[in-house]
Amino acid sequence: MSTPPSTGSLDAIVRDAIAAFAACRDPAALENAKAAWLGKTGALTARLKALGQLPPAERPAAGARINQAKEAIEAALVRRREALAEEKLAGDLAAQALDVSLPGRGQGGGGLHPITRTLERVEGLFRSLGFTVADGPEIEDDFHNFTALNTPENHPARSMQDTFYVDGGLVLRTHTSPIQIRWMEGHPPPIKIIAPGRVYRVDSDATHSPMFHQVEGLWIDEDVSFADLKGVITEFLRRFFERDDVHVRFRPSFFPFVEPGAEIDMAFGEGRWLELAGAGQVHPNVLKAVGIDPQRWQGFAFGMGYDRLAMLRYGVADLRLFFENDLKFLEQFR
Ligand code: PHE
Repeated sequence: MSTPPSTGSLDAIVRDAIAAFAACRDPAALENAKAAWLGKTGALTARLKALGQLPPAERPAAGARINQAKEAIEAALVRRREALAEEKLAGDLAAQALDVSLPGRGQGGGGLHPITRTLERVEGLFRSLGFTVADGPEIEDDFHNFTALNTPENHPARSMQDTFYVDGGLVLRTHTSPIQIRWMEGHPPPIKIIAPGRVYRVDSDATHSPMFHQVEGLWIDEDVSFADLKGVITEFLRRFFERDDVHVRFRPSFFPFVEPGAEIDMAFGEGRWLELAGAGQVHPNVLKAVGIDPQRWQGFAFGMGYDRLAMLRYGVADLRLFFENDLKFLEQFR
């Protein structure tokens, strides 16, 4: 049996490779060294190319030996890589560049904020009752926030709402009612919209936040009445809370942009009455201000606080919890 011509030198190649890897002090040097042994121009590739010169009967065994050598070198490379990584970790720990007591960086699954989930539910239910969803700016001018809503200069209603004024005579809108005006400026009746969003008032305690959310409703047609208002609100609340024992009552109240005006309260069964919304038949002056003939068109508007709906639905007692962005609170709604 003839001695395979390259056995001795293959062992030498493996030894040399292992020695070269061991001499590398960092990962970059190691990857460079790898090319010299395993790359296209590496020592083993030349051996594989030379296989063709052997007698056919010897080629399989010779090829298998070259592959063994290659596997041995690859294994040595992996071991050296791991050793270098461990050295680096040990070094970082010693230098305190790495604090292993820090919490992990695992990615928590996201979720929608409970107010957003409430809004999606509100929008879905009003859409199913035939309402379109409208939108408007959070920074408003005096005309849309007050004047067009039948609230003249020096009218007491302006101080009823403690307003945040910003530069240029603008305000952070104190309610979503200006969206009524903006919508009517661009759309002739019939109109059937809701308009949700953030509103701002100088107010802060367990049930009042300087920023809170309202959804405005506006339904204008030739014969939309207070009865329709009661029907829409009652139907909405029963669907929202998935209960048939939701009761609704109207208390006379004043808003300059409606006549008559009311506060809407709700109660579960025989429970306590909770204030939910302001509402009323849109005042003829408001319709006139946007060029709609109040002799022909009429209807209702309401402004409902849906933070309150979220509190009731999720059993949250303090409104401020919604806006503190504490994950321990928010994660419960995922
Ligand atoms: N805009 C009123 C408020 O914020 C609520 C309201 C809306 C009242 C529409 C009547 C009609 O208090």
